[in-house]
Amino acid sequence: MPMSAIKIHKAEDIVSMRSAGELAADVLEFVGKHVAEGITTGELDTLCSEFITARGGVSATLSYNGFPKSICTSVNHVVCHGIPGNYRLKSGDIINIDITVNVNGWHGDTSRTFIVGQCTELAKMLVDVAEQAMYVGISAVRPYGHFGDIGSAIQKFVDHHGFSIVRSYCGHGIGREFHDEPMVVHHESHEPGPQILPGMFFTVEPMINAGSYKTKVEKDGWTVVTVDKSLSAQFEHTIAVTEDSVEIVTMRAQQK
Ligand code: MF3
Ligand code: CO
Ligand code: CO
Repeated sequence: MPMSAIKIHKAEDIVSMRSAGELAADVLEFVGKHVAEGITTGELDTLCSEFITARGGVSATLSYNGFPKSICTSVNHVVCHGIPGNYRLKSGDIINIDITVNVNGWHGDTSRTFIVGQCTELAKMLVDVAEQAMYVGISAVRPYGHFGDIGSAIQKFVDHHGFSIVRSYCGHGIGREFHDEPMVVHHESHEPGPQILPGMFFTVEPMINAGSYKTKVEKDGWTVVTVDKSLSAQFEHTIAVTEDSVEIVTMRAQQK
């Protein structure tokens, strides 16, 4: 066994990751325009499924370990892996939409939390802190740095705002595999973790709770919720490390 099972991809593989990342980012932008009071999460799923197919991609979540839909929709106290269905969005909800696509055998994985209509100041702050936490984590990524740097940076930032970081779910290596090594921990673990090397592809996707970090899985076997029913928000990007840079492959062109 090699010391580390984290894949080092070929320099040209970043081109494939850019294609997958671009489609995932485009789906997220597209579905964001449909997020509004009155639409169901199932309708959002159908819209995304059609969009992905029209662009020649495949949803990586559909049938993944039996997951029944093409996207994940996680509303309010749902942390992640919410299953789209009959739930109708109402003003004040926050909804994370998580898109993972497969394009020519490579994966792009990205999510963001949207606010529906008017929400509370707390919800607004939580969503804002979750987005910033993701960027704080990405900013801690350096070629030849360590994975532990990511969680340390996010923990410092989130503690300062009085929110908590989910521990039971992590970022992950990605590429030809949807979920690969390493586990990208988003909290302070007091371990340096593996070294970050050029050719590594992985996600940074902190889940931030207004209350306790503790989570549980509902009876459907998928939906992850906060145990104290507090709100949860999440943002996710897929990133690629090169010799001298860290590229966010799921960043939309206009935002780069
Ligand atoms: N996209 C999620 C992630 O960021 C995983 C969803 S798996 C599913 O890793 F089966 F729930 F869709
Ligand atoms: Co992911
Ligand atoms: Co995801």
